[in-house]
Amino acid sequence: MPYRRTTLSKFIIEDQRRAGSSDPDLTSLLNDIQTACKLIAVAASRGRISPPDAVQVAINVQGEQQQPLDVAANKIMVGTCEWGGQLAGMVSEELEQPHPIPGHYPRGRLLLVFDPLDGSSNIDINMPVGTIFSVLRCPEGVAEPVAADFLQPGTTQVAAGYAIYGPTAMMVLTVGDGVHGFTLDREIGAFVLTHPGMAIPPDSREFAVNVSNERFWEPPVRRYVDECLEGAEGPRAADFNMRWIASMVAEVHRILIRGGLFMYPRDTKDPGKPSRLRLMYEANPMAMIVEQAGGAASTGRERILDLQPSGIHQRVPVILGSRNEVERLARYHAEHDRGEDEAFAAPLFNARSLFRTA
Ligand code: F6P
Repeated sequence: MPYRRTTLSKFIIEDQRRAGSSDPDLTSLLNDIQTACKLIAVAASRGRISPPDAVQVAINVQGEQQQPLDVAANKIMVGTCEWGGQLAGMVSEELEQPHPIPGHYPRGRLLLVFDPLDGSSNIDINMPVGTIFSVLRCPEGVAEPVAADFLQPGTTQVAAGYAIYGPTAMMVLTVGDGVHGFTLDREIGAFVLTHPGMAIPPDSREFAVNVSNERFWEPPVRRYVDECLEGAEGPRAADFNMRWIASMVAEVHRILIRGGLFMYPRDTKDPGKPSRLRLMYEANPMAMIVEQAGGAASTGRERILDLQPSGIHQRVPVILGSRNEVERLARYHAEHDRGEDEAFAAPLFNARSLFRTA
């Protein structure tokens, strides 16, 4: 019965009731975020049929070429979430400095951090893109937060989620008690609960990494990937599958559905950018979601959620997904740092399988 369906709005209210703690500001902020995601879903799905209003694209704060939909999605997030009186400020991937709440709107005690359109290089080729968000609390006594007020470890996140704009549009959300997925029913204009209690299997035989960067990786990451590629004949004694969608939202979504490992590890390709993904609005919200679903998220050396941010656009290495695979990679990093992986780090490693069969 359609009227019995749990919409995202209903779920949030009932969830707070179950937890015995109502937070009206969080409820209405999450409602505004879902409205913004519906608007972005519509804009993304119409593609070139109706391009977003003429917008000025530029090189963004990350040094990346903006797409018109990046700019439109940012405007939608800001415009849909700034008016309601729940927020003290926002940080967006597309804005160099925090966005202050305009003086004519009431201010609240929450902070919103987001990537309005993740994976936007996928827009032109009609592949999935998404929106990632993280909700924090504004420090006590701060009315007009500056960048430093957003620099809180991921463990302090009140909520985290993403929307994925693929064949269906979905929102995936955690408020700290599990991860739940909602599919946009376009006929009634609501996200409905379709994936309650999403859980990542602890083991997996599927990994996702941009292998074209292999020569720039650290030895523990090369060791892991090489062992996967050696398949049933290698030390893992199993054949592995590989995927790369070039959209973190889509990779994390796949992992929530069927497990796997996703990583954008540290590399030396561009010495000015030793990591690719941003801590505050990519790594932290995804790490909270993945941990809440039973997975793990690490830089290889530290749990992502424990990192103390040093800048709102800070980049970090990201390794996340099925717990046992993430832990294996963390172990490889530790062994490397203790100098215990010499056989692998040696230049002849790539011929190792030849030695073994000799
Ligand atoms: O900037 C973020 C991002 O688009 C991620 O969503 C994605 O995982 C990655 O960059 C893709 O990187 P690459 O261009 O190296 O494939």
